[in-house]
Parts: sequence; C-alpha cells; structure tokens
Amino acid sequence: MTFPPFRFAVTCLALAGSAFSAAAAEDPARAGVDFLENKIRPVLVERCFKCHGGEKPQGKLRLDQRHFVLQGGKSGRVVLPGDPSGSLLIWAIRGVDQELSMPPDEKDQLTSEEVQNFVMWIQLGAPFPGAGWGSVLTSATPQPFTPGRDG
Ligand code: HEC
Repeated sequence: MTFPPFRFAVTCLALAGSAFSAAAAEDPARAGVDFLENKIRPVLVERCFKCHGGEKPQGKLRLDQRHFVLQGGKSGRVVLPGDPSGSLLIWAIRGVDQELSMPPDEKDQLTSEEVQNFVMWIQLGAPFPGAGWGSVLTSATPQPFTPGRDG
C-alpha cells in the first residue's frame, strides 16, 4: 500500500500537543500512560476488543497488550512507535482506505478527535501501563498510574 502525504496527522498533532505538553514536561512516562488511560483505553476496549481481544483475534491482531500491539497482525506491524504516518492502524481508523477501514461497520467509525488521539498516542511511542510487555487491558475504565510499575 502507498501512503498519501500525511498533513492530517501533523495538524492534529499540533492541536493535541499543546494540551499535552504541560503535563509531559513534569513527568513524560506518567503523562504518556495517563494519555493512554484516558483517551485510548476506553476506545480500544469498547470499539476494538470485540474483534481484537484475546479470543479469536481478527486479522491475527490483538490490541489488548503492548506486546501484541507492537507485534502486529497478518499484514505485519501495524503500529510504529513515534511514526503515526507509517502505522497501518492509523490508516485503518481514518477509514480512507476502502480495503481496510476499522471498525468495519461504517456506523461505528471513530470521531476525528478519537483518531487524533491515536495519532498522538503513537507519536508518544504507544505507551501502555505496566513495565515490560505491559498489562493486559480488560476494563474500559481508566486506571491510576502506579509509579515503579508504570514507569
Ligand atoms: C467487528 C469486528 C472488528 C472490530 C470491532 C474492529 N476490527 Fe479491526 N479487523 C477486523 C477484521 C475482520 C480484520 C481483518 C481484515 C482483513 O484482513 O481484510 C481486521 C484488521 C485490522 C487491522 C489490520 C491487521 C493486519 O495486520 O492486517 C487493524 C490495524 C485493525 N483491524 C485495527 C482495528 C482497530 C484499531 C479497531 C478499533 C477502533 C478495530 N480494528 C475494530 C475486525 C474488526
């Protein structure tokens, strides 16, 4: 697949970044995990896990643990930390590619703000709670940051 220019992501990043930078300056590890907890976790759990959780993951892609997110699916890697424009996941949720639009049902499409948040999250390095492979996400409810465990 060839990717068209990615002006969209750059604009979004500038918008999301201004709100984020104050918290990140204090504690980047915590700010990254908090961003995941508040902006990404609920969307992943409620909109993606039905098909990309631990049971029979579609497209051979699990999105419930950092290890699996970075491993990718049947097309190979789908998230390149720090490189949203090179990440297939972003193209999928933007819904611009007729062949791979996620979630598949058009009425479930993410809002542009939700897409922007995923762009920002990948730009931040796709942080997850938990050291190493990261915790397995199950609940949609944001969890408090745990120093030592999370960064
Ligand atoms: C109703 C089921 C369903 C839901 C909900 C869903 N997906 Fe998918 N997803 C699929 C199927 C089926 C495929 C395989 C599509 C194909 O191969 O053409 C897939 C493939 C993918 C792929 C490509 C994997 C690869 O390696 O080829 C990505 C990335 C992806 N989904 C991301 C997401 C994200 C992010 C969400 C939530 C916002 C989501 N999906 C929600 C069913 C779903």
